[in-house]
Amino acid sequence: MSRGNIVVGLDIGTTKIAAVIARIENDGTPSVIGVGTSPCEGLKRGVVISLEKTVEAIGKAITDAELMAGIDVQEAYVGIAGDHIKSLNSRGVIAVSRADHTITEKDIERVLDAAKAIRLPDEREIIHVIPQEYIVDNQDGIRNPLDISGVRLEAEVHIVTGIMTSIQNVVKCVNRAGLEVRELVLEPLASSYAVLSSDEKELGCAVLDIGGGTTDLAVFHAEAIRYTSVIGIGGKNVTSDIAIGLRTPVDNAETIKIEQGYALKSLIPKDQIFEVPGTGGRESRKVSLDIIGTIIEPRMEELFTIAKREIEKNEYKELLGAGIVLTGGASLIRGCAELAEQVFDMPAKVGYPKGFSGITDIINNPSYATVLGLILYGSQDVEGGEQFRSLAKTGTLERTMESVRKWFKDFI
Ligand SMILES: Nc1ncnc2c1ncn2[C@@H]1O[C@H](COP(=O)(O)OP(=O)(O)OP(=O)(O)O)[C@@H](O)[C@H]1O
Ligand SMILES: [Mg+2]
Repeated sequence: MSRGNIVVGLDIGTTKIAAVIARIENDGTPSVIGVGTSPCEGLKRGVVISLEKTVEAIGKAITDAELMAGIDVQEAYVGIAGDHIKSLNSRGVIAVSRADHTITEKDIERVLDAAKAIRLPDEREIIHVIPQEYIVDNQDGIRNPLDISGVRLEAEVHIVTGIMTSIQNVVKCVNRAGLEVRELVLEPLASSYAVLSSDEKELGCAVLDIGGGTTDLAVFHAEAIRYTSVIGIGGKNVTSDIAIGLRTPVDNAETIKIEQGYALKSLIPKDQIFEVPGTGGRESRKVSLDIIGTIIEPRMEELFTIAKREIEKNEYKELLGAGIVLTGGASLIRGCAELAEQVFDMPAKVGYPKGFSGITDIINNPSYATVLGLILYGSQDVEGGEQFRSLAKTGTLERTMESVRKWFKDFI
């Protein structure tokens, strides 16, 4: 089997590390051949707090995936998220260089360079520069300006930045687990790759990846990413609310959430009773299922309200023709989409990863959206795909990786 068509995704989440190995078939479809997951407590709200635990969990997830696939892998597309990520939109303008005014690859590179020439605090580094649209002599809405004639070329871009040291810690963990980072990819961007159709991206929608420690928000319109942000609330908060509310250990609370949880009280069947297991020799207790709704609904409502405010703050609400797509493990809490519809006052659904063949039974789950999105992102390298190559063209990530490598040389 040729190594050239193998892509590896590595999602370093706050509850689990997920590694997926896929072979990209001739028609471009990724076929999943290896999956490994390992629980991980090495991160807090997306930031590495224990190098040792994270390295160990990455090693285990990768080894399991390698064993299943029957191959060794050397590099991976790695997801990055966390409180330290910030994003903004920027614009660049240049004069088209050729005498006959035909726009060349070089002009596109130059205009993207101009768009990303922003002042950043010393500790911040650019992770992505993603073109949204180009404007040629005031004609807007151009997706690819190559070979078009014009005098003035403008680019609107979405820039994602992160704190250098937080990025370095992620790279360090991956390297210590024996892998190279092929590219770092913003997690909400990766998740949207896996769960959104191009119609949804065109019409406009917001993706909320509700994980354990964080919820990632990404807003799309006219096929381009417009806004990204990370909210520091996730499924773990729901679990700890249940633990406190029912006075039960976190492990029990987690099981109760998964087996009995409802995000919307009005969906709970009437007069349902369930048992909360006793702890420390105490008897188990019978509790009404209504109580679960009373505990979960306010937390999920808080999360959706924060997300709604973020969307409104940026005036994108009117542009979300395709509504809200929920994904991530905690989107599986029953009634999540129904509650989101009420809070956002627009259609909402739970998005499952799509576009894969191979061992899909294991990964047909919203908690795999990020890692599978990383595979789809990476598969474009194999196909020579176009949309995100602009990223490599701008050289942003090469520079990030260069500075990470330099940092390693200096400090290790
Ligand atoms: N069937 C389910 N019902 C309810 N909640 C679930 C279910 N399966 C997983 N979860 C919850 O989803 C959360 C984990 O989701 P996910 O695997 O997407 O997170 P992660 O990627 O590790 O974290 P993050 O994205 O915050 O870094 C946990 O809080 C878990 O309890
Ligand atoms: Mg996640």
